[in-house]
Amino acid sequence: MKIKTIILAAGQGTRMKSQKAKVLHKIAGKSMLRRVVETSQELQSEIIVVYGRGGEQVKQSLADLPIKWVQQEEPLGTGHAVQQAISQVSQDEVALILYGDVPLIRSETLGKIIEGLSDESLSLLTVKLRDPTGYGRIKRTDGVVEKIVEQKDANETELAINEVNTGIMAVNGGALATWLSALKNNNSQNEYYLTDVIEMAAKQGVPINTFHPHDAFEVEGVNSKQQLHALERHYQMQQAESLMAAGVTLADKNRIDIRGDLNITGGDVFIDVNNVFEGSVSLGEGVEVGPNCVIKDATVGANTVIKANSVLEDCTIGSNVSVGPFARIRPGTVLENSARVGNFVEIKKTTVGEGSKVSHLSYIGDAEVGKGVNIGAGTITCNYDGINKLKTIIEDGAFIGSGTQLVAPVTIGAGATIGAGTTLSKDAPKDTLTVTRAKQITLEGWKKPTKE
Ligand code: UD1
Ligand code: CA
Repeated sequence: MKIKTIILAAGQGTRMKSQKAKVLHKIAGKSMLRRVVETSQELQSEIIVVYGRGGEQVKQSLADLPIKWVQQEEPLGTGHAVQQAISQVSQDEVALILYGDVPLIRSETLGKIIEGLSDESLSLLTVKLRDPTGYGRIKRTDGVVEKIVEQKDANETELAINEVNTGIMAVNGGALATWLSALKNNNSQNEYYLTDVIEMAAKQGVPINTFHPHDAFEVEGVNSKQQLHALERHYQMQQAESLMAAGVTLADKNRIDIRGDLNITGGDVFIDVNNVFEGSVSLGEGVEVGPNCVIKDATVGANTVIKANSVLEDCTIGSNVSVGPFARIRPGTVLENSARVGNFVEIKKTTVGEGSKVSHLSYIGDAEVGKGVNIGAGTITCNYDGINKLKTIIEDGAFIGSGTQLVAPVTIGAGATIGAGTTLSKDAPKDTLTVTRAKQITLEGWKKPTKE
């Protein structure tokens, strides 16, 4: 059975009060529409997105995905939206209808409604809500679905029905095309309702099989920032729960945000409060993350400790490393096993070798630091001449005194010592002491000025 997924995304989203198209607002760091598209991809389906006015930014932002784009020029209703896409679906294919603003739908649920579909049936995803206000109600006679009545068209008895339409359905493409062409807009909103297809199917004796999602959040739509927030928090809580189920200790499951994939590759990982993980992050066995860290696209080896308020991006951290507190590890950095990077240290595009230390107040950029190196407080690699980025090489066992500027390109030989306060602009030979420093003088007989 070949599946074509039609994702409706033409809604204006005025209640979001934003310049940005509604479906581009993000849940856990990923736009709602991207989420729905990726979920559809898990079903090996081809994807058609119906976009509306101002849809250029939507197309641009998902340009990397294999999507067939179809425009709905006027928002004349959900049925009208699907009409725009139906020519892309052949008679014998399955049309699966999804929504760009219903981001948490799971592929397992969609799999269920597709598996339950035969050539002669229609699968409809419904949910029972304590408060069904606003939704289309599922009207049944003797348990058999007869039609969907929209809130605005419903009478009192119908309004009391608490089983509602999620809008998500799977149906044979040929049958759907026929029904769509018969839609009328003679209802309270003068819209072409996709939901009217249900009544047509029922009248033709087509069995309408209903399915339910795992939880109601899967089918919840986003129309406002409040609803966006509710889904974000729900999604984050699910991630926190599954981390704990996998053995991770969380100081507070309410105070961790994962905007991407957090991979835990070993046991006894501890994550303190207020941490944000972005992109693809992997934490090895025994890793501890202190409070208030932001970690993006990073691999952290076993038993490494990331202390409070550190920011890491696009880096590889070995095992038994100590980072922070207040460290900034920028893209292209590799901290090898047992390295230590302390407070107020910024490291960029640099490899720090095994056991080396940069403990306080330093900027190390575009450098190669060997093993067992000690970099004193306030060391700066002057790596930029205003045009080019230049390289600093510090070989194994070197000792850099405090308050030193290393003017790149420059190499410090193995075992060399650089005296405190040195401005190093020429290579320092190995196993020597190099120091640039004005001679210290003391003026005898000097007197403090007195007030005139
Ligand atoms: C729709 C259903 C209702 C269901 C509810 C679930 C219809 C007639 N009603 O109602 O039974 O309970 O969803 O949330 O289908 N859209 C377009 N083009 C349009 C109109 C809508 O792309 O011309 C898109 C919207 O962007 C949105 C979705 O379709 O993603 C639903 O539209 P909306 O207007 O929110 O439908 P509801 O009135 O909520
Ligand atoms: Ca809606």
